[in-house]
Amino acid sequence: MEPFLRFRTFHVTQTISAILVLGILTTLRVAECENTQILDTLQYKALTCRKHTASLAEFGAVGDGKTSNTKAFKTAIESLSKFANDGGAQLIIPPGKWLTGSFNLTSHFTLFLDKDAVILGSQEESEYPVFAPLPSYGTGRDGTGARFSSLIFGTNLTDVVITGQNGKIDGQGEIWWEKYHNDQLNNLTRPYMIEIMYSNRIQISNLTLVNSPTWFVHPVYSSDVIIQGLSILAPVDSPNTDGIDPDSCTNTRIEDCFIVSGDDCIAVKSGWDQYGINFGMPTKHLIIRRVTCISPDSATIALGSEMSGGIEDVRAEDITAINTQSGVRIKTAIGRGGFVKDIYARRMNFKTMKYVFWMTSSYNKHPDDGYDPKALPKIEGINYKDVVAENVTYSARLEGLASDPFTGICISNVNITLTEKPKALQWNCSSIAGVTSNVTPKACDFLPEKEAVECPFPEDKLPIDEVQLENCTAAAAVEP
Ligand SMILES: *[C@@H]1O[C@H](CO)[C@@H](O)[C@H](O)[C@H]1NC(C)=O
Ligand SMILES: *[C@@H]1O[C@H](CO)[C@@H](O)[C@H](O)[C@H]1NC(C)=O
Ligand SMILES: *[C@@H]1O[C@H](CO)[C@@H](O)[C@H](O)[C@H]1NC(C)=O
Ligand SMILES: *[C@@H]1O[C@H](CO)[C@@H](O)[C@H](O)[C@H]1NC(C)=O
Ligand SMILES: *[C@@H]1O[C@H](CO)[C@@H](O)[C@H](O)[C@H]1NC(C)=O
Ligand SMILES: *[C@@H]1O[C@H](CO)[C@@H](O)[C@H](O)[C@H]1NC(C)=O
Ligand SMILES: *[C@@H]1O[C@H](CO)[C@@H](O)[C@H](O)[C@H]1NC(C)=O
Repeated sequence: MEPFLRFRTFHVTQTISAILVLGILTTLRVAECENTQILDTLQYKALTCRKHTASLAEFGAVGDGKTSNTKAFKTAIESLSKFANDGGAQLIIPPGKWLTGSFNLTSHFTLFLDKDAVILGSQEESEYPVFAPLPSYGTGRDGTGARFSSLIFGTNLTDVVITGQNGKIDGQGEIWWEKYHNDQLNNLTRPYMIEIMYSNRIQISNLTLVNSPTWFVHPVYSSDVIIQGLSILAPVDSPNTDGIDPDSCTNTRIEDCFIVSGDDCIAVKSGWDQYGINFGMPTKHLIIRRVTCISPDSATIALGSEMSGGIEDVRAEDITAINTQSGVRIKTAIGRGGFVKDIYARRMNFKTMKYVFWMTSSYNKHPDDGYDPKALPKIEGINYKDVVAENVTYSARLEGLASDPFTGICISNVNITLTEKPKALQWNCSSIAGVTSNVTPKACDFLPEKEAVECPFPEDKLPIDEVQLENCTAAAAVEP
């Protein structure tokens, strides 16, 4: 808007430029809509800006919250996919409530939600195609059968942006939660809200995501992923509503997110037991920063429980949690294989938490009986520092495996204040090894106190941190 206002109040030459600019903008298809007289310029940051623009409304979509727009999304994205090699395209979702089933993204493409746009996930199973379970899991998470494709799905893509002025995507998950609780899914796995598979250069930013049927954001087998400025909201008792699950991904940056959920706010994964071991694709080079979590029965950041392809080089900083069960939790089991190593977390602030430090080696859910009982997870090099936690029930519960101790644990500069009725055994440790320094209350004997140790946190920059976003604009039609 700013440029137009400026142009209008200035001299003739500027007026001419304004007319030229308007002329260019009106050639954009958005401006063709009959009821619209004013153009609003949307500005946003993205990995890549796009040359072509269209509005969902041009493809016969109806924003009444009742009409299914599955076909309109499909037609719009298929028709914009032809610009992939000609500067790419952006699809603007205008103000309105756009009901849809699952739809597929395309490469060199931006899905942009206006601030008053709501994408509503259909509650009809028939609106979600089913396909095979993930190869690194071997089975679905809700049942052994196929899985519903996610509401927004993409596979084998490059350069995809999903963003908006905090526009909303509402998964309308209630009906799916009920089916899950009542065992009415016929062995199928509920749809995620956004899943991007086998892709690179992905951005998901500045959106409000609510009530996903199960996990919200699931980048899998992908690299160069930026997730920024998401508000993710689900009831704290909704089943499996993980916020963000980077799964077998390399170079991922998650920042400035606020997550309230019924499961882990962030769950870092890499496949399940023998399937994950065979697939062999770790999650590595992951940055998580400035994330706030509320999840009374789950972790702020979970590593696992599916970690059979390995998890390494995770850097978490400036993490806040309120009324959350645990901080950065490791979940694993016999049969997982894989590893969790070179994990770094610093500057964490927790208020009302059951376990500040929690590692579990008995997270014994398996895809089937074919897991290898000799496949032991390797957990080593876990570093936590600069932690303040208030109103805590247990400082730590750290449970390694007798046959496979967790080693290289370093915890420094931690002040924990306990609840009114704290448990007697504050540090409950078994089969672990490492050090602590400046930790209150004092840790268990497995983690002896050493003076003036500062646990490491890497100071080099990962390539994903060097990625700069471009300043993009889109013209959107607004009502007069
Ligand atoms: C998201 O919105 C914030 C606040 O308006 C803005 O500072 C930031 O640049 C936006 N991020 C992107 C990736 O558009
Ligand atoms: C999306 O793509 C997948 C994989 O190619 C396919 O199985 C599915 O049917 C597609 N979904 C839609 C809604 O077309
Ligand atoms: C997508 O990429 C994977 C891994 O490279 C490959 O196995 C699969 O065949 C590709 N699928 C399509 C539809 O191209
Ligand atoms: C913990 O308390 C000590 C002593 O008051 C203080 O020096 C230190 O900075 C505190 N640590 C954190 C992470 O705030
Ligand atoms: C402290 O934690 C307990 C749960 O252990 C909770 O019931 C209580 O409300 C919390 N107090 C404050 C002041 O947040
Ligand atoms: C200590 O941890 C073990 C294993 O995680 C658990 O079985 C036990 O109940 C805990 N003990 C206490 C007193 O919390
Ligand atoms: C985007 O715009 C901001 C200020 O509006 C500027 O500081 C920044 O350098 C620009 N970024 C690029 C990549 O041009």
